Amino acid sequence: MRRTVALAFSGGLDTSVSVKWLQEKYDADVVTVTLDLGQRDDLKEIERRSRQIGAKDHYTIDAKDEFLRDYVFPSVMANALYEGKYPLSTALGRPLIGKKLVEVAEKAGATAVAHGCTGKGNDQVRIDVTVRAMNPTLQVIAPVREWNMSRDEEIAYAQERGLPVKPSKSIYSVDQNIWGRSMESGPLENPSTEPPEDAFEWTVSPEEAPDEPGYLDIVFQEGVPTRVNGRSMEPLKLVSYLNEFAGSHGVGRIDHIEDRLVGIKSREVYECPAASVIIEAHRDLEKLVLTRHELDFKAQVEREWAWLVYSGLWLEPLRLALDRFISATQHRVTGSVRLKLYKGSARVVGRSSDYSIYDVGLATYGRGSKFDQKSAVGFIELWGLQSRVAAGLASQIEEKKENGHPRTKAKEAQ
Ligand code: ARG
Repeated sequence: MRRTVALAFSGGLDTSVSVKWLQEKYDADVVTVTLDLGQRDDLKEIERRSRQIGAKDHYTIDAKDEFLRDYVFPSVMANALYEGKYPLSTALGRPLIGKKLVEVAEKAGATAVAHGCTGKGNDQVRIDVTVRAMNPTLQVIAPVREWNMSRDEEIAYAQERGLPVKPSKSIYSVDQNIWGRSMESGPLENPSTEPPEDAFEWTVSPEEAPDEPGYLDIVFQEGVPTRVNGRSMEPLKLVSYLNEFAGSHGVGRIDHIEDRLVGIKSREVYECPAASVIIEAHRDLEKLVLTRHELDFKAQVEREWAWLVYSGLWLEPLRLALDRFISATQHRVTGSVRLKLYKGSARVVGRSSDYSIYDVGLATYGRGSKFDQKSAVGFIELWGLQSRVAAGLASQIEEKKENGHPRTKAKEAQ
């Protein structure tokens, strides 16, 4: 019996060639699946291409709301930045692609799923791990990992079979969704040179940004952004608006050396305008409402959370457990943060919350402070106790050495 494979389909060269290759090599019917994660592609055109190439069926799935609610907003609560910089935009999308592939495969009676990831990146791990965790009976096929064709060979393969290949308009390898745009390859592979201006699409260059600063007031309810500049917005509207607004001020460009899961160091360039301002604001609000102890411990959890998600372990029970902890910290993360955007930078310049632990009566250097300065004396006495004892001991030992330690003396005499 002919088998059915559900293929994650972007409409690019790799996945277009994959349709034919799976039919030929695996004698399979191919069902293609394209998720709308807010990547700004022409989804109708992608569906047309899939049918033109000969897929048996095609599914376009609008997953934007699910992506924001179940993947992106938990990452905001986790202030998730891999290696301190990357908001995980691509990484967050992959487990959702894996999940939808499994759902389509089960509906279409497929025995395998396939995707266009290479064997050199993180994305293969993220999709494979998710699919296998959700349905271990499904085989995972990654044609690009198997076929060993160069780009030119792929084009020749497509032409021989009359596939409509569009020469890609970009020299960059790009992946995008509502949370950001990832760019690799071409001139970006030289980590010592500045990314060319033509790599960027969502942000103006800071030099071209308006001469007047822009202000954003972002309101969070229990860790989730809900209002911007006085207007209440649904997640999709809110994130799109912030991508636009921050991008127009040149905010959200990220250039860093990243450690891939497979061991390779790579130079990655991102545009994540909304993610940059939302995480900056969220982190700042937490500083106002959470205790020092909560903040210290949460920072460790955040690092682990970002690593698990980056490394493809979205469904790992530890990630779910960390999410529970993070959620428990978010009940008081309600309030408003004001950012000033100016020529590529976004700085928090104000914040307020009903849950603020900041107490001006305690902090003030002015009149009327409630803080009893005398109580500091006893505190300092105990706070420095061990340091004092250790320092005293160190100077005693030093003194003994100078006066000649009995054992050292005995040795000298020999
Ligand atoms: N390095 C990023 C990550 O691992 C982005 C990968 C981008 N993928 C791509 N096909 N260009 O999440």
